[in-house]
Amino acid sequence: GDYELGGFPDYMAKEIAEQPEAAQRVLRGRLDERLGTARLDGLRFTARELRGIRRVKFLGCGSAYYAGQVGAGLVEELARVPADAEPAAEFRYRNPVVDPDCLYVAVSQSGETADTLATVEELQRKGGRVVGAVNVVGSAIARECDSGVFLHAGPEISVASTKAFTNMAVAFALLALTLGRVRDLSLAEGRRIAGALAELPERIGEVLAESDRIASLAGRFADAEHVFFLGRVRGWPVAREGAQKLKEISYVHAEAYQASELKHGPLALVDPAMPSVVLIPDDELAAKNLGTIEQVKARGGPVVAVTTTGLAVPGADDVVRIPSAGPELDPVLLTIPLQLLAYHTARKLGRDIDKPRNLAKSVTVE
Ligand code: AGP
Repeated sequence: GDYELGGFPDYMAKEIAEQPEAAQRVLRGRLDERLGTARLDGLRFTARELRGIRRVKFLGCGSAYYAGQVGAGLVEELARVPADAEPAAEFRYRNPVVDPDCLYVAVSQSGETADTLATVEELQRKGGRVVGAVNVVGSAIARECDSGVFLHAGPEISVASTKAFTNMAVAFALLALTLGRVRDLSLAEGRRIAGALAELPERIGEVLAESDRIASLAGRFADAEHVFFLGRVRGWPVAREGAQKLKEISYVHAEAYQASELKHGPLALVDPAMPSVVLIPDDELAAKNLGTIEQVKARGGPVVAVTTTGLAVPGADDVVRIPSAGPELDPVLLTIPLQLLAYHTARKLGRDIDKPRNLAKSVTVE
């Protein structure tokens, strides 16, 4: 059945490998390439209601929160609607101002995370408009939200989220496109994004083909005590998710920073024993990211650059090159090599990959 390993050493490897099909499923029937838009039937909003949304806020825990941050970037970029993401527990405990013109998106693979569920209930009590972005159909959060978008990633068994994270980001690209096309996003731009989304599963497959190359870098991280993940704007939520994955399954201490914050403090930690992973999306900030590499190298820090560009990356000790689906979707593709990096590092260290110590697949108590 669905739950068997089918030749893979563990569920995480299987779930990483399943990402092209999983992404295919979250897109199925939801793209209109001719009109350059998406159709999210589960949202049940009219075009007029969609135009009435003045803010979008993504709420989730852990990787679901980071996926929400990718979503917020996409919504601001494609729809020019102010958007952000916040950890669900922080939101619910700070007595938030609930804005009737805001679309709240509760993000959860399991649909059972206690803090996210409680956030949905609190929002409903206060008249907030909340929709779910949930993988498990019939879960508590899916039932509590009367509208939403299912992620269709299929069962995710490994504690470390991979294909569900990817499908969250893809679903938010669909949401951003939908919101954009009832506003200022042009037909041509909408078509370009819709086309890039249609090709995304294939691009994900191409990234997975780099697995051996990435495995060959794992030694660098298995031997390290601390690792930085550095990114800016599109690369920033990717850096956070990369650090999370490495900590979670390899127990190597990793921290993500906005690359621009480096010289305001964390640069003091850089030395030859502390490798940095620098994300370089195919966007107008690539030159700045090359500057970050120089800053790290000048302090003797080893650098692994992960990029969707064809750029020469002079300072880096190693460069992982993956295809791009256009800058907007780079966060989705750049996350995948970081999943592989964490995976191969954890394997090298002999960790229990699917069941890391101290963690549960879903946190149903506070
Ligand atoms: C992801 O690798 C983690 N295991 C964790 O952060 C997870 O994403 C978080 O607990 C949220 O779970 P959910 O998506 O089921 O709500």
